[in-house]
Amino acid sequence: MAKEMTKIMVTGSVGQIGSELTMALRKKYGNDNVLATGHKTKPSPELCDSGPFEFINVAQKETIEEVVKKYNIDTIYHLSAILSAVGEKNPKLCWDVNMNGTYNILEVALEHEMARIFIPSSIAAFGPETPLDNTPQETILRPKTMYGVTKVAGELLCDYYVKRFGLDIRGCRYPGIISYETLPGGGTTDYAVAIYFEAVKNKKYTCFVREDTRLPMMYMPDCLKAAIDIMEIDFSQLKHHSDFNVSAMSFSAGELADEIKKFIPEFTCEYEPDFRQDIADSWPNSLDDSAAREEWGWEPSYDLAAMTKDMLEALTKRHAEGKLNY
Ligand code: SER
Repeated sequence: MAKEMTKIMVTGSVGQIGSELTMALRKKYGNDNVLATGHKTKPSPELCDSGPFEFINVAQKETIEEVVKKYNIDTIYHLSAILSAVGEKNPKLCWDVNMNGTYNILEVALEHEMARIFIPSSIAAFGPETPLDNTPQETILRPKTMYGVTKVAGELLCDYYVKRFGLDIRGCRYPGIISYETLPGGGTTDYAVAIYFEAVKNKKYTCFVREDTRLPMMYMPDCLKAAIDIMEIDFSQLKHHSDFNVSAMSFSAGELADEIKKFIPEFTCEYEPDFRQDIADSWPNSLDDSAAREEWGWEPSYDLAAMTKDMLEALTKRHAEGKLNY
């Protein structure tokens, strides 16, 4: 029988996923039961005013331990990470935050007998030798970025802690996440977010990957749904733990621009690939997520058309109010 989750901590709560996941968890489990944590970046008033917030450094175990004890934490959503593009600029930092951070979270979870832990992986776990289309759950994992290396090692480490120590750890391989609340920080899939902001603000965008670059993507409501749903299923129903492929949609940069043009006909997109092209080229076009569908009922709601409508409505409203900070 799984232990009850009552006191939740979110790491990386100031980031793109963490900021929205914290608010969703507070709504579901109660504001006071969800501790938001971050490292240096100033949290939004929404995050601070709606519940507890603490600064930690996941690469320093004692800072995690301090807040775990203070708030009697029994569940962790570990979102803090250095993404792929920043990771290539600073591989050492990427290793330190992603690898030592994950190791510290797992050690603290073990020592403090956590009920459950969520640690996401990414499509960055794959590499150029991986089958590109409908990438299987079990496949070749030979990433060429430091971010990808830490994600594969993280998956393996999580599965080790499940098997060796009986910890309840869950995680999925997120594709590029698209949202309008908090911008992503230094990933390769960031163009798929920036294009919407620029389309609304300036009616033009210069994309840093080629027009034919196709990657798996997901809209934020589905991303949150995955994190929440995977944590609710009975542990005994899971055959996989930390490495579920999750898929929602897959499109090229050109198809994304065409979809935006349906709403903003004067929008133009140019393509000037930079170092992130090589990273994008090493990742799959689309994923086979049948294991997630079978084991915990994963089912996304948004495709490219539905997401684009929602993104543009939200951003247009924000722009009209003079609040489109980008
Ligand atoms: N969105 C991430 C990145 O681009 C992939 O997980 O780095």
